[in-house]
Amino acid sequence: MSDLYDEQAPASAELFDRARRVVPGGVNSPVRAFRSVGGTPRFMVRGTGCFLYDADDRRYVDLVSSWGPLILGHAHPAVITALTDAAAHGTSFGTPTPGEVTLAEEIVARTPVESVRLVNSGTEATMSALRLARGATGRDKVIKFAGCYHGHVDGLLAAAGSGVATLGLPDSPGVPSGTTADTIVLPYNDIAAVREAFASHGDAIACVITEAAAGNMGVIPGRNDFNKALYEECHAHGALLILDEVMTGFRVAAGGVADRADLYTYGKVMGGGLPAAAFGGRTDLMEQLAPSGPVYQAGTLSGNPLACAAGLATLRQCTDEVYTRLDETAARLKQLASEALTRAGVKHRVSSAGNMFSVFFTEGPVNDYDDARRQDTAAYAAFFHEMLRRGVYLPPSSFEAWFVSAALTDEAMDVIAEALPPAAEAAASAAS
Ligand SMILES: Cc1ncc(COP(=O)(O)O)c(C=O)c1O
Repeated sequence: MSDLYDEQAPASAELFDRARRVVPGGVNSPVRAFRSVGGTPRFMVRGTGCFLYDADDRRYVDLVSSWGPLILGHAHPAVITALTDAAAHGTSFGTPTPGEVTLAEEIVARTPVESVRLVNSGTEATMSALRLARGATGRDKVIKFAGCYHGHVDGLLAAAGSGVATLGLPDSPGVPSGTTADTIVLPYNDIAAVREAFASHGDAIACVITEAAAGNMGVIPGRNDFNKALYEECHAHGALLILDEVMTGFRVAAGGVADRADLYTYGKVMGGGLPAAAFGGRTDLMEQLAPSGPVYQAGTLSGNPLACAAGLATLRQCTDEVYTRLDETAARLKQLASEALTRAGVKHRVSSAGNMFSVFFTEGPVNDYDDARRQDTAAYAAFFHEMLRRGVYLPPSSFEAWFVSAALTDEAMDVIAEALPPAAEAAASAAS
């Protein structure tokens, strides 16, 4: 390929300069800033299908998919039509609307939840589920797992993954110690540690919250029926299990991982690229929310008609054929990446949960956050930049999942297949 993109992306660089003057760090969500891979974050101006175009009009095959939501690719005609139709009728009413009922029905039909409340972000979903679990049990303590990220909820910003892991941040200043005093952080996939915590604090633990499959320290699936064991342990002690499916929900299968739990949280795909999220569970639990019950939760824009229209159009396109295609695409990509890295002699471990996967630059095995942190982040940065120069947009952090979309074409797969061997060589040169 002769026309490699050079490191200077002048239009993005200029926008980044402007942004840094008026926006903290120049970005509205930390991982976007490219801090762990270095260089100038690309400012994207449009997307179509599996391609993104930056401010310098460079085209990239998108393997981030807006961090998961764009399972159908960019500007899918069904989503855009639903959105423009809805917008023509008005953007927000502050009343119940038909669209939110239909979206809730679709979620209930696809997942284990009987009743669902719509919110605006995954953070809001987990925050609200946590409040409900505490309200329902009358207990305060919560168990979370190191490296799992549930949004920037105060009490869950302890040993969090995603941007906190990417930037190597200690737990965030500004979170009152009283808040995290009720958070017990344990290693992921360690059921013995969970049993010990219940043995010591059993009657004070309101809930365990876990990602349905970890995706925010890189992808690490639960081992040995981890979710099932968590459910049993919770129920032996009168606690609830919250399965966070913000990332996995409607992505890895029609509903999500959908292991047995009391409360579930959703986001990303169900908003079709607009801000929509949800939490749900058994009717008896959900009815404890206001206005039926005493646990308060609300939102000016919750169930927004545009977000519901985009979400519903997206879910309706997510058929069995789409999931089969996503699985096949992910399998092919994993194979291509692994072959290129093996040929270049780069230590790596591909880890997946359905069509969500990541490539750890370490020998492995990778079962928890400590294992994930052993990876060679410098090797990943070199790999990332070589892919970027060759027109492939990977997550700008080795602690994130690669997200495929159903819009990936053969042409795009060829671009990726050509880019991988030189990127693997770059990783080999940078490896420590
Ligand atoms: C598993 C999980 N839970 C919660 C969140 C928070 O969602 P949001 O960024 O929409 O607040 C995320 C975001 O990446 C997530 O992956």
